[in-house]
Amino acid sequence: MPIRFMRSTFGVLLAAAALQASGQDFPNRTITMVMPYAAGGPGDTITRVFAGAMQKHLGQQIVVDNTAGASGSIGTAKVARSKPDGYNLLMIHVSHATNVAMYKSLPYHPVDDFDPIGRATSGPMVIVTRNDFPAKNLNEFVAYVKANGPKVSLAHAGVGSASHLCGLMMMNALNVKLNEIPYKGTGPALTDLMGGQVDILCDQTSGTVPSVKSGKIKAYAAAGKARLPQLPEVPAITDAGVEGFDINISFGLYAPKGTPKPVLAQLTAALQKSVGDQEVRQRLESMGISAVSVDQASPEALRAHLKNEIDTLGGLLVKAGVKAN
Ligand code: MLT
Repeated sequence: MPIRFMRSTFGVLLAAAALQASGQDFPNRTITMVMPYAAGGPGDTITRVFAGAMQKHLGQQIVVDNTAGASGSIGTAKVARSKPDGYNLLMIHVSHATNVAMYKSLPYHPVDDFDPIGRATSGPMVIVTRNDFPAKNLNEFVAYVKANGPKVSLAHAGVGSASHLCGLMMMNALNVKLNEIPYKGTGPALTDLMGGQVDILCDQTSGTVPSVKSGKIKAYAAAGKARLPQLPEVPAITDAGVEGFDINISFGLYAPKGTPKPVLAQLTAALQKSVGDQEVRQRLESMGISAVSVDQASPEALRAHLKNEIDTLGGLLVKAGVKAN
């Protein structure tokens, strides 16, 4: 092959690499946003809100890829090993912090293998049951769960998931062991709850408020100290004297480690515009979820939030003797 041709080909490749590293041509094709829980759940709902908003600001389609299983670690590993070019993103919450404490052999590290783009949302959880659960109010719910323990089934999205953490807090607070039924997300869990195949689920409001309002499931308590504006008639769990509940679930957006900084900056800018979108804020608020403030939709804020969750919630699971494998 003539030297001249080789030089020109090498030159073209060099220029293309430089262009990609500079992010000048980003994005020039569809972006994939992995949601490591099943479709139809609270995480999926939140991910689709941001995929829709960010694609407007980036001018490129964003497709949501629900790669579920193993408490979100399968989808997370998929992004960790993907090309760090800005076209493979991960939307995830507390399980990014808890999985490192849960799994002995996790195929990634939540900090070392990812570049944070920014926080997206925060939101409360609510304790819901199948429609014919035999309790007229929160006090009767607590009494029934305490009296029937292992005969009561508790659905969740896998060890270390938000729904599992909330379930753990409930079991610790009521000093009872329930029959845990894991799913690939609380979307499928909710389907079984509506069908009466499982008794209790503690889930994020973005997955449950519509089903409570439509009467398909019953809500007994907000899983924290405050009532939910969207379900004002539902008491806070602390109203029944149950302590130890203080859970709020926050989603954040990550790219694989080594993504070019100009590309990360564009992704953070699109996320910040999205959290500022009134349409996004109102859509989330209707589900009881808050978009974070623009300054929280930053790599620094997400990095600090993740460290705090690794130190606190990971510790809760270790103290509870919970392991995934
Ligand atoms: C969980 O942690 O419970 C998940 O967010 C549920 C889901 O999004 O499917």
